[in-house]
Amino acid sequence: MNIGVIGTGVMGQNHARNYADMKGIDEIYLFDVFTETAQKTAERLNAKTVPSVDKLLDKVDAVSICVPTQFHKDTAFQVLNTGVAALIEKPICSTVSDAEYLIENIPKGIITGVGHIERFNPIINEISRIAEKPHYVAIHRHNPVSARITGTPVVEDLMIHDIDIVLNKFIKGDYSLSACGTDDVMGVLINNNNTPIYLSASRKASKKIRSISVETENFTIEGDFMTQEVYIYRKAGVYHAENMRYVQENVVEKVMVTKVEPLKLELQTFLDCVKNKIQFPITLEQATENLKLCEKIHKAAGA
Ligand SMILES: NC(=O)c1ccc[n+]([C@@H]2O[C@H](COP(=O)([O-])OP(=O)(O)OC[C@H]3O[C@@H](n4cnc5c(N)ncnc54)[C@H](O)[C@@H]3O)[C@@H](O)[C@H]2O)c1
Repeated sequence: MNIGVIGTGVMGQNHARNYADMKGIDEIYLFDVFTETAQKTAERLNAKTVPSVDKLLDKVDAVSICVPTQFHKDTAFQVLNTGVAALIEKPICSTVSDAEYLIENIPKGIITGVGHIERFNPIINEISRIAEKPHYVAIHRHNPVSARITGTPVVEDLMIHDIDIVLNKFIKGDYSLSACGTDDVMGVLINNNNTPIYLSASRKASKKIRSISVETENFTIEGDFMTQEVYIYRKAGVYHAENMRYVQENVVEKVMVTKVEPLKLELQTFLDCVKNKIQFPITLEQATENLKLCEKIHKAAGA
């Protein structure tokens, strides 16, 4: 199987690096509008470069689309209309209407998906499996200030990872929400049948945070997206006063999680889907629902 990567910036290089480590790939072809970027990556990874998307599509069975978000619609449209399978980096497009246009105007039956990478973080499957009936969910994703200018609000840039998780793992049925923030910091409270689901994201923090915490009737479960560690805190067995201070004895269990680079698992899953002609777990429709929630958040925040 031959694989292509379109756009070899930060994410494209990560895709190409992971593909270069995988078995079952014959050749990797790279294209970037900045030829030098693609060439440098190709030299490092023993890949090949091509002078255009058309030339790349002549050679490959599947591609990762890692161009800036504003070019996702046109690039995905070109790739999919050639019949080549495509994994589009998140978010699917810049707007819901672009995503809907794309879905309506591509041929049916081609393997497609969107790279909502945290769905492949092993802590998410563990936590959602263990915490069956949450009565509170909180996910925080905060980045230190960066020189990197994305041109994308923090909701589509960072919070969308957690939007994908809550929409697909925690929210059941109808919900309403309130939100406040700016382009760089956002807090959202989702009311899902009186279960509060709280999301926060920031690009102005002084500490990098990637945490999830879920409370259920009998325990609280906490996970760290970066260390991939998960702990369960059982209800206090003993709660008494000692020297005028309350003492609480919790039982803490560490959940065994098999650590894995989420991007590696995402790309391996994509290749397996292409080989076996099965649907990638994150569909274009789900990715569009994620964007719709982003738009609701902006509306609620008055942006
Ligand atoms: N999954 C994640 O965690 C994650 C993290 C960062 C970025 N992303 C997504 O990945 C995508 C790319 O982001 P990035 O941070 O790698 O950006 P980047 O700016 O580092 O890289 C984009 C590359 O695409 C090239 N390019 C621009 N237009 C092109 C075109 N029409 N055809 C071919 N190449 C083109 C640029 O020259 C550049 O090298 C964005 O959609 C972003 O949202 C996802």
